[in-house]
Amino acid sequence: MEAIKIFCPATIANVSCGFDVLGLCLDSVGDEMYFEKRAEKGVVIKEITGADLPLEVEKNVAGVAALALLEKLQPDFGIEITIHKKIKAGSGIGSSAASAAGAVYGINAICGYPLTNKELIYYAMQGEALASGAPHADNVAPALLGGFAFIRSYEPMDIIEIKAPSELYATVIHPQIELRTMDARSVLKKSVSLQTAIRQCGNLGGLMSGIFLSDYDLIGRSLQDEFVEPMRSLLIPNFDRLKQVALENGALGSGISGAGPSMFALCKGKENAQRVALAMREVVADADYANEIHVCAINPNGVKELR
Ligand code: HSE
Repeated sequence: MEAIKIFCPATIANVSCGFDVLGLCLDSVGDEMYFEKRAEKGVVIKEITGADLPLEVEKNVAGVAALALLEKLQPDFGIEITIHKKIKAGSGIGSSAASAAGAVYGINAICGYPLTNKELIYYAMQGEALASGAPHADNVAPALLGGFAFIRSYEPMDIIEIKAPSELYATVIHPQIELRTMDARSVLKKSVSLQTAIRQCGNLGGLMSGIFLSDYDLIGRSLQDEFVEPMRSLLIPNFDRLKQVALENGALGSGISGAGPSMFALCKGKENAQRVALAMREVVADADYANEIHVCAINPNGVKELR
């Protein structure tokens, strides 16, 4: 293959009770990337549209992920990447992850698919580490695999792919204030009490069971987070009100998307998700910053090749 164009989806990491271990893939929001073989070895980022991001490979998450994978694959040619960013940086819906996941997918494709998408996660995580200071997989894994991705263990990597219940939709509101993942990680406590850990384990087990059983009420009851939400919610304008209106308008549950500032609500059916979107829009109608709202189905496949 000489060239390939791909769609790299946005993702919701954590999904409330799964800090750093659970994420889901969104279907209608994402970047586009274009890859072309070049004679000279190495990687070049030719152009980035839609965001002011560095073209220097070592300073760009796509570049760092690409370098990590090229080091492994050692092809006797190089690759040129063009990135069309549609996911805003610092939004909390996996903007850096889309670039990192896209980079490794595109390069793997040009090289003839020597690795599986699951094997690519490790290399995409190296790009994520540049953006957040920690090589977490809860955005890159769902971006590459689709559906829900659950990270049972980082060392060794053990990632489980889970199909989303068919009627599950996500409403996402992105208040356009910038909140860097690195900063949102720095406000977290370094330890939690045993009682808190017990409740969080209960909710995470409940959420996973609810997803497997397509038990929407169980999903809703389990969307609670005591690890990060108490600290991070303070950084998000109107957090309590947005969560409250989401629940009042039929959402199963609501929380912070990744490191924020975006918030998500999971809903049964598109109609409920749209109602929640309208209610959230009213809450921010007078805000002095822009808000973007998306209603998305769960993307079952992750990164997609475009013709
Ligand atoms: N699990 C990460 C965090 C996701 O919450 O910091 C960042 O997108």
